[in-house]
Amino acid sequence: MVHDILIWPDPRLREVSAPVTEFDESLKTLIKDMFETMYAAKGVGLAAPQIGILKRVVVIDTSPQDEGARPLVLINPRITRKEGKRLWSEGCLSVPDEQEKVERAEKVAVTALDEEGREFSLEADGTLLALALQHELEHLEGGLFVDHLSSLKRGLIKRRMTRLKEAARRTANPKA
Ligand code: NI
Repeated sequence: MVHDILIWPDPRLREVSAPVTEFDESLKTLIKDMFETMYAAKGVGLAAPQIGILKRVVVIDTSPQDEGARPLVLINPRITRKEGKRLWSEGCLSVPDEQEKVERAEKVAVTALDEEGREFSLEADGTLLALALQHELEHLEGGLFVDHLSSLKRGLIKRRMTRLKEAARRTANPKA
């Protein structure tokens, strides 16, 4: 099922998400829904809080930009190492149609659980995956890429998002 994606500013995007403790059917349904929602929105990554579910679940698919990339599920992920610096042009499904340069690490190592609860580790170096990992894990802490921008830029984007949401509300509710 495709879910609505929360648009910033929304208080739920600022919450710290809770670790997953049950690796059951409802988790598999959530993961399936997250992939469907991400692909429908043409994104490369999605974190559960972006659909209002405050759990530490991330899905990423950086194909075809990253050669050999496959769909990835990361439960309770944590960054174990960061190296180097790089300016990336970054966007977010919760901040539609905005792209800004953000400084991130060039290389990251991450440890996470898969949907069966098995631990795995991965590294990404200079690829879109390296960016997506840092961006999506930040969502689990209530962070967004706009937090890295100047307050002036963030304010401009916030006004555009607020107008976008008001327009969407009027369309959904013409008499209001
Ligand atoms: Ni995002």
